[in-house]
Amino acid sequence: MSPLASSPASSASHTADLVVFGGTGDLSMRKLLPALYHSDRDGRLSPETRIIALSRGGLTDADFRGKVDAEVRDQVPADDDAGWQRFLGRLHHLTVDVGGDDRSGWAALGAMLAGFEGRDRVFYLASPPMTFGPFCRELEREGLVTPQSRVVLEKPLGRDLPSAQRINDEVGAIFDERQIYRIDHYLGKETVQNLLVLRFANAFLEPIWNSLWIDHVQITAAETVGTPGRRGYYDQAGALRDMVQNHLLQLLTLTAMEPPARNDREAIRDEKVKVLQSLRPIAGTEVDRFTVRGQYTEAAGMPGYLDEPGSTPPTEASARVETFTAIRAEVKNWRWAGVPFYLRTGKRMPQRRSEIVVQFKDVPHSIFPGGTPNRLVLRLQPEEGIELHIMAKEPGAGEVMLKPVPLSLSFGKTFTARVPEAYERLLTDVLAGNPTLFMRRDEVEAAWRFIDPILQAWEASAALPEPYPAGSTGPAGAHELLGRSGRAWHEEEA
Ligand code: BG6
Repeated sequence: MSPLASSPASSASHTADLVVFGGTGDLSMRKLLPALYHSDRDGRLSPETRIIALSRGGLTDADFRGKVDAEVRDQVPADDDAGWQRFLGRLHHLTVDVGGDDRSGWAALGAMLAGFEGRDRVFYLASPPMTFGPFCRELEREGLVTPQSRVVLEKPLGRDLPSAQRINDEVGAIFDERQIYRIDHYLGKETVQNLLVLRFANAFLEPIWNSLWIDHVQITAAETVGTPGRRGYYDQAGALRDMVQNHLLQLLTLTAMEPPARNDREAIRDEKVKVLQSLRPIAGTEVDRFTVRGQYTEAAGMPGYLDEPGSTPPTEASARVETFTAIRAEVKNWRWAGVPFYLRTGKRMPQRRSEIVVQFKDVPHSIFPGGTPNRLVLRLQPEEGIELHIMAKEPGAGEVMLKPVPLSLSFGKTFTARVPEAYERLLTDVLAGNPTLFMRRDEVEAAWRFIDPILQAWEASAALPEPYPAGSTGPAGAHELLGRSGRAWHEEEA
């Protein structure tokens, strides 16, 4: 059994009513419903489990099923028509006038859930964070929160520490912490879970997993996509809030955490939060030295951030939004003292590439010319896998020539099982009541404590993000961030 699956995640879960706020939205159609279909197909949804989408859309159940059929069907294998029809039969839609005076939608939801109080109830809030508190209050007002209820909160959880605390207080007034599942979909990715298995189910890494042997760590999430149609959200967020506060810091915690004493939800999360609390704050004048921000400009036939189509027109604030950021972080504890953790994320980069690169130090005394230090690469995207770069001798009878070569594990090639989407794993865990892969309140708030001073320094600065051409590897500052200590980003050395 995987160390992260201490509850019966792989068997059919209890019968549940899953209520999705924002049920006809982009996340629901692109991620949640396909993930639920695959869970159903693999026998992980009990036969009576219902999926109830809420929106303002005025759809009947039949309309909603038709919409899902039209938009999600292409993700269903051709030979599973029966399974797909069974899945469609689980779907319901209710029109709820959120924040409005018409209470009939809430009453309809109450009527639909009445008589099923013994079931697990999952309220999935795939809606903007300012709605989390009000929605939870509505649920309580309607008497819909039962002891078996859980609430799932999508990121972003606030836009700084005070707003995150406010949301946590509001949701925490209605639900116990054990009932709150804060999603970070990166934690559902196979390689991310494999990182823990690699570190804690294999003995050989632990003795060298520290500042004696490791020079630095690079964590990259590069995307080729821009932000078309997303200005409303992205102008408010930027790369630091959108990717670093959650996804990249989560990857950092799993890389840097101490081995937990037990395979249990709290032991793992206790160790993760300690890492976040050990991050050396970056504030004031240090922000310019240890962080970089960039914004993509028109190039190679791609529009710049300010000209992305399908969005509201840019405002003055849009020019200050970072679509790229790089940070030199440090974990101030015995294991990691002096080891930089370089974090980097950007839109409109040349390649879609998400990876953790652990760069080892050079051998203490080299007897061969031209060696390259070892490097461990955990690739999340495009193809999930692990590579250990070692030095080998090139075949030949002449002079000994060294060559760095990868020992590679491709999950796709090694394991025949389908690699599930991150949301599939996470929804399975929510339905099984296993919160290990979800962020606890103290984790989210510790992450904001690290991010807030950077945001404040950026906001106080008159400087704009450095421009970088769409399709390039980011602004010059990102290269200098490593270059000034004689290091380079992984792909530049590859
Ligand atoms: C989301 C961000 O959380 O993650 C998006 O809001 C980003 O901006 C996405 O594109 C990346 O996820 P993935 O799984 O494609 O790396």
